[in-house]
Amino acid sequence: MTGRQGTVGVAVIGAGMISTQYLGNLTRYPDLDVRIVADTFKDRAAEQAAAFGVPRSGSVADVLADEDVEIVVNLTNPTSHFQISMMALAAGKHVWTEKPFAVELDEGAKLQQAANEAGTRIGCAPDTFLGPGLQTALGLIEAGEIGTPVSALTLFETPGPAPDHRNLELLLTRGAGPLFDIAPYYITALVQAFGPLASVVATARTARPRRAIQVGPNAGQEFTVTVPTNVAILAQFESGPMSTSVLSWDSPLNRQGWVEVTGTRATIAVPDPNRFDGEVRLKRHGAEKWVSVPLRGESGGRGIGTLDIARAIRADRPHRASGELAYHVLDSMISIGQALDRKAFVTVMSTCDRAEPLPADWDPYARTL
Ligand SMILES: NC(=O)c1ccc[n+]([C@@H]2O[C@H](COP(=O)([O-])OP(=O)(O)OC[C@H]3O[C@@H](n4cnc5c(N)ncnc54)[C@H](O)[C@@H]3O)[C@@H](O)[C@H]2O)c1
Repeated sequence: MTGRQGTVGVAVIGAGMISTQYLGNLTRYPDLDVRIVADTFKDRAAEQAAAFGVPRSGSVADVLADEDVEIVVNLTNPTSHFQISMMALAAGKHVWTEKPFAVELDEGAKLQQAANEAGTRIGCAPDTFLGPGLQTALGLIEAGEIGTPVSALTLFETPGPAPDHRNLELLLTRGAGPLFDIAPYYITALVQAFGPLASVVATARTARPRRAIQVGPNAGQEFTVTVPTNVAILAQFESGPMSTSVLSWDSPLNRQGWVEVTGTRATIAVPDPNRFDGEVRLKRHGAEKWVSVPLRGESGGRGIGTLDIARAIRADRPHRASGELAYHVLDSMISIGQALDRKAFVTVMSTCDRAEPLPADWDPYARTL
């Protein structure tokens, strides 16, 4: 697939809840050509293709057989991520996958190996750190506005995951729970601020082991929660700082997107790492008030990581939401799970580089290819 020019052909696999946001955005980026939507349930794929003016819909096999599809966007459920990404890589496609990268660490390693051997790219959500909110905050940290980074506090507390999700039980089972579903946003943001994690320790509980589906034909049906739903984490970063994080789906209080990074000279309030925009605020040592900092850059929403891969392919440069980053985030989450089991600090063995910032004039809606 080398030597191609112009817009990059894209396929979406998984026509569920999040595909609406993705398709809305991917079809508006002039550098991408969304060619086909696929799902195990072909009627869902057809419905989403029609809603967003995508010319074709069909099966995973249809996607893999389409020579003009260069990037497969994997929006399936977490336990299908590995299988679908591996199939796409084996077919010579580049891959953008929703988080988590995979559910097991060896799956993450196999994905990276397969991409390296095939000479294809793999990238993984979240791409929120490429939005104007986090890019502005990260730029201030990089420029030394808070002094030497010392620590971070992150809080995510809600009563539970999306009550309107028709597959609610999938969010409270293997590969999900706040640790796998939500932590990727916070860990990725912290890695962009501090660099890679060195070690973690954690404690957790599941306050409500039985929950009920709240919408759709199965409303009222109870299921067993098989993952911890309240996790408290301490992390030590290779470069020196530490972080304290709470991830809870057991809290009547709804407080999410709280990320404060403290340095020797100031604290910065970073916007919600599950969003692309938001407010950046800075409180300097000795100052009475927080100061709001204007955001820089254009907000493209979910899918800008895919677009960055497309542009990186054509420019023959690294993409930002990389496989190495995703593997390190997965390794960190699995290490947190081990720390829960062992009740002790666990060393995070992998490492990764912080991503290059986006150029100030980066515009998802510009035609560049
Ligand atoms: N829903 C959200 O708000 C949200 C937000 C951010 C990220 N995500 C992530 O996006 C992914 C999908 O989430 P969702 O909420 O859209 O889930 P969903 O259950 O609504 O949709 C997943 C779709 O993938 C299809 N699918 C599953 N396995 C498949 C396979 N092997 N082949 C073909 N199709 C398959 C299912 O039929 C379903 O239509 C998850 O990884 C989730 O963490 C979701």
